[in-house]
Amino acid sequence: MIPYGRQWIDEDDIKAVVGVLKSDWLTQGPVVNILEKALAEYCGAKYAVAVSSGTAALHLTCLAAGIKDGDEVVTSPITFVASANCLLYCGGKSVFADIDKDTYNIDPAEIKKKITKKTRAIIPVHFAGLPCDMEAIKKIAEEYDLMIIEDACHALGAEYRIQNSGLRTNEEWIKVGSCSHSDMTVFSFHPVKHITTGEGGAVLTNNEKLYEKLLLFRNHGITKNPEKFTNKDLAFSHNPESLIHNPNPWYYEMQELGFNYRLTDIQCALGLSQLNKLDKFVAKRRDIASLYSEAFKKIECIKTPVELETKKSAYHLYVLQIDFEKIGKSRDRVMIELMEAGIGTQVHYIPVYMQPYYGNERNYKKQRCTVAEQYYSKALSMPLYPKMTDVEVTKVINSVKGCLNV
Ligand SMILES: Cc1ncc(COP(=O)(O)O)c(C=O)c1O
Repeated sequence: MIPYGRQWIDEDDIKAVVGVLKSDWLTQGPVVNILEKALAEYCGAKYAVAVSSGTAALHLTCLAAGIKDGDEVVTSPITFVASANCLLYCGGKSVFADIDKDTYNIDPAEIKKKITKKTRAIIPVHFAGLPCDMEAIKKIAEEYDLMIIEDACHALGAEYRIQNSGLRTNEEWIKVGSCSHSDMTVFSFHPVKHITTGEGGAVLTNNEKLYEKLLLFRNHGITKNPEKFTNKDLAFSHNPESLIHNPNPWYYEMQELGFNYRLTDIQCALGLSQLNKLDKFVAKRRDIASLYSEAFKKIECIKTPVELETKKSAYHLYVLQIDFEKIGKSRDRVMIELMEAGIGTQVHYIPVYMQPYYGNERNYKKQRCTVAEQYYSKALSMPLYPKMTDVEVTKVINSVKGCLNV
């Protein structure tokens, strides 16, 4: 069976995990910091906070951004539900702006239409690994004083160039995760993603205040930093000379309602070992994507993912748009036939507002996004993971062509 996505674990990954299992630390120990530093350096950001999942990372960003009851945040309907759920956890409301018909990313012009007095932030999702138009999104955020939280769960290793002005193009490639055009960026380390820690994720930022909030919320809102203690009477002994430097040895302070979103040293050892191979993994994903595009681009009823000069996708997903009506075969039939041929495909995604929870409980039915719905009706993700062999890629291509009769 060729699944639509899967991890690649080597002996060196196993060795790294075993190394931690034999050490003194299983939960949060020294490897967490090492992974955070390596990730921040890779992306070109100042700070990284490793957490227990991409969903936890999104939740933390909303807490750090101060999203609360009644606040609105604009995001894409073509994403995993977590990109929108994180707002609801904080009492906020997700507002869906339609996608661009070619990139399938949130359309900046549509974001602008959705802004109200209650809007506090924008969560662009780099769908399938292709960076959003961050320059345009940042411009809107500056105009309306909004925060930007990048959902980059699909885009570790992706890069973009900015159009400085007019026709002049800056040659410098910017890594998604550098937070050059945002306040915070979120990654997921789920096994189908670019690198894995089993479950896991991270938030990156260049803002020290946000960084400190993220650390606080990750660990129950508890701080052990004497400089941050607010309740001096409880925190310090009454000898005035010992103030600041000698807090009571048992003392810690809970200053916010936080969570246990910690990632373990065991997982971070795996993440660190995987991070060393990230560039190889992304290169492999891009190679497979170009083989698919070469094979499918001239077929009339199929649209392949767009390639842009200013963006390098990290290709978490390879989504074909297939005109099932013209082909005369329904999507479920195609998926079943491919499954019978040993090929796993998937649909990314049902527009979030179509989910019963959003539609029924929260009356999101009115928030229709026409382009997103057209996209959804034709979407089919092909298998894509770095360990795929050329023989497997060829098998997928031939089976899809055979099944669609093209
Ligand atoms: C776009 C997007 N955001 C958030 C998440 C949540 O990440 P996790 O599964 O690590 O919680 C995912 C996971 O698939 C995702 O695809």
